[in-house]
Amino acid sequence: MKFKMMTICNVRKMIWKNTVFLRHFSVNTTPLVTQQQESASAIINDVLKHGKTFGFHQEFFKSLNKEKVIVEFSSPNIAKLFHVGHFRSTVIGNAISNVYLAAGHDVCKVNYLGDWGIQFALLAIGFEQYGNSELLKNDPLVHLNDVYVKVSEEANSDTELYNKAQALFEKMEKGDNNALKFWKLSRELSIEEFKRLYNHMGVTFDVITGESQFVQQAKGILKSLSSQNLLTTEENGAKKINLSESSWICGNQPHEVTPIVERKNATTLYLTRDVAAAVNRFEHHSFDRMIYVTDFSQNLHFRQVFGILEAMGYDWATNEAGKLIHIGFGRVQNMRSRKGQGVYLKDILDKAEVKVRQDRLEHDTRRSNIENEKHVIDNLALTGLICHDLKRTLRKDYKFSWDAILSSKGSHGIALQYTHCRLYSLEQNCGTSLTHDIDISMLYNSEMMNLIEQISKYGLATQKTYETLEPSVLLLYLYDLCHAISKAMIACQVKGVDKNLSEARLLCFHCARTVLGNGMRLLGTVPLDKM
Ligand code: ARG
Repeated sequence: MKFKMMTICNVRKMIWKNTVFLRHFSVNTTPLVTQQQESASAIINDVLKHGKTFGFHQEFFKSLNKEKVIVEFSSPNIAKLFHVGHFRSTVIGNAISNVYLAAGHDVCKVNYLGDWGIQFALLAIGFEQYGNSELLKNDPLVHLNDVYVKVSEEANSDTELYNKAQALFEKMEKGDNNALKFWKLSRELSIEEFKRLYNHMGVTFDVITGESQFVQQAKGILKSLSSQNLLTTEENGAKKINLSESSWICGNQPHEVTPIVERKNATTLYLTRDVAAAVNRFEHHSFDRMIYVTDFSQNLHFRQVFGILEAMGYDWATNEAGKLIHIGFGRVQNMRSRKGQGVYLKDILDKAEVKVRQDRLEHDTRRSNIENEKHVIDNLALTGLICHDLKRTLRKDYKFSWDAILSSKGSHGIALQYTHCRLYSLEQNCGTSLTHDIDISMLYNSEMMNLIEQISKYGLATQKTYETLEPSVLLLYLYDLCHAISKAMIACQVKGVDKNLSEARLLCFHCARTVLGNGMRLLGTVPLDKM
């Protein structure tokens, strides 16, 4: 490289404040002025030097204190199918964890299964009547779900059945082995199936736990609350806590301000188990930040969890401490089946794969003999789904659209893969070898300069994504990058031009691919070389 490196900050200042830099290129004849060449050179050098960590090497990330961060996400319910809300939580939580990891924090990814509650007692009773061991073995979640739908319908009108479940649940809470037998089996089978899904999605966890692990601690929490005189007993025997003083609570409705923390039969609740799990995590990890990723409807629940922790006197749980964060995402509006049930991830993944395969058959015969086609199709389908999900501000609801998921053009996931593959193929087939020693003045061309400018903005995109915890910031940046790449690929031939020109352009496209790949991996997709 013919020019010495500049700091990225200087480069940015030049890019955004000094319009001299990029705006004034239009024709291919005048050589770049030194300052402009230095800027372009510094950006390319930075990408080459930092490679996979480019975008997190800048001052902003270097100056951060390294924190212990817990990200709790996915958290499906056992004995139930994994639905689109859990898919959203998995995709969003995974992307946020990746960004925190890349920023250098010590991240612990936690999956907190919904594996406790009276519904599991009802399910055990229902299984005696409607269950089939063969079906349970072959397709556990579907079968358990079917059984649960039947038995819960029955329990709605049959108080005797409901009371029986209540009694069984009380035994389960006391740890009675016999009462726990069916629950244990359902839990194991569910976890096995969830693991298959996570494996398919390329998502891993550091801890897989669940509500069931915090029953005893939740009872301890109730004792502390009571000894701190924070509880009042209702006429029906249930106990409530008054959170009207808490800065976490915004509304003034009784159900918001004074939640029930204990039923009259003294079994634990979702709310108190969550309080116990948070205390346990702080004791084990003394985290600087804990992030919960669920759909927005649980916002009040988490404000109550945080409010109870604050009322118990934990200074890490105050609003001001800023350590507890609930990320509430919007709903997928058109994801109900005709029977009114949710649509399940396995069906969505299968359908996406079938559609991608069909699309390839209809539109492209050349690629049908690609190696490892299953891997390619799975990843295209997943990329389409992930990017469709992350495209907008998290709080927004959205409509599921197969056209958007499958599109390989414009601002859609498969288009990212398509661009990545085109760049890879260019490097393989252009006949020029990649060298770092290029003549930067060769890049004098508005499309190339625009591409370099776009590459230089990646650091700002990662920083903004980190600060806002909005993966859409990064994704929209990647769409702009792809747009710049494709314009530059049309305008700037690499094959069949002068050697110096070819080498300079190739290096620039190589840097673009590095950045695109980095961004795609952060979002939880696997960049493909061929499709
Ligand atoms: N299992 C719950 C559900 O499916 C989500 C759990 C969220 N996390 C938590 N700590 N409460 O709705």
